[in-house]
Amino acid sequence: MTPPDPGTLDLFAGAARDVPLDEGAVVLGGFARGIDKALLDTLADVERDAPFRHLVTPGGRMSVAMTNCGAAGWVSDRNGYRYDPIDPDSGRRWPAMPDVFRDLAKSAAAAAGFPGFTPDACLLNRYEPAARLSLHQDRNERDFGSPIVSVSLGLPAVFLWGGQTRSDRPRRVPLVHGDVVVWGGPARLAFHGVHPLAEGHHPLTGNVRYNLTFRHAV
Ligand code: SIN
Ligand code: FE2
Repeated sequence: MTPPDPGTLDLFAGAARDVPLDEGAVVLGGFARGIDKALLDTLADVERDAPFRHLVTPGGRMSVAMTNCGAAGWVSDRNGYRYDPIDPDSGRRWPAMPDVFRDLAKSAAAAAGFPGFTPDACLLNRYEPAARLSLHQDRNERDFGSPIVSVSLGLPAVFLWGGQTRSDRPRRVPLVHGDVVVWGGPARLAFHGVHPLAEGHHPLTGNVRYNLTFRHAV
């Protein structure tokens, strides 16, 4: 008998399974686990070209640090948010979307019932302990017909899954390393956020959680 590889063992230990959130929204448990190291190596390449930075929004400085790759990047300043093909910090284009990122996003979207997803923007988020993301909708994209694909790496987090209005009480959804959340169709504009990150240590990322969100933005 072939011994299961450590990844498989881990998968059973963590009881990775898919969790439906709403019509059009699902957590694909552990979907990205098998390529976690490739994703993190690639993230380091992106970060070398376009370092993480704490953006300022009309509401103040964000606790989550962000960068982007792809044809357009999500940026913000005191006046508001936008997608921009140029990194305002460097004056250059964002790094191209790496194939390993795009392929993962496409296959996760297809697994969640959204075949034909063509992401052109990837927002990279870096959370350190206490960093949080308040409830919001992803609505700066031109194409609400495409889903959002969101990949978690490193420390676990509590994802807040709200409803169609800001006042809907959000569900607390635990996300661990390798989980992928996909939301589209009737769930595309659902409110969502991330509870303040707890202290911790992850063997691959130390005290950090990374999140990659893929969009068809421009
Ligand atoms: C986001 O809403 O852009 C990020 C969500 C997450 O970090 O899980
Ligand atoms: Fe979001």
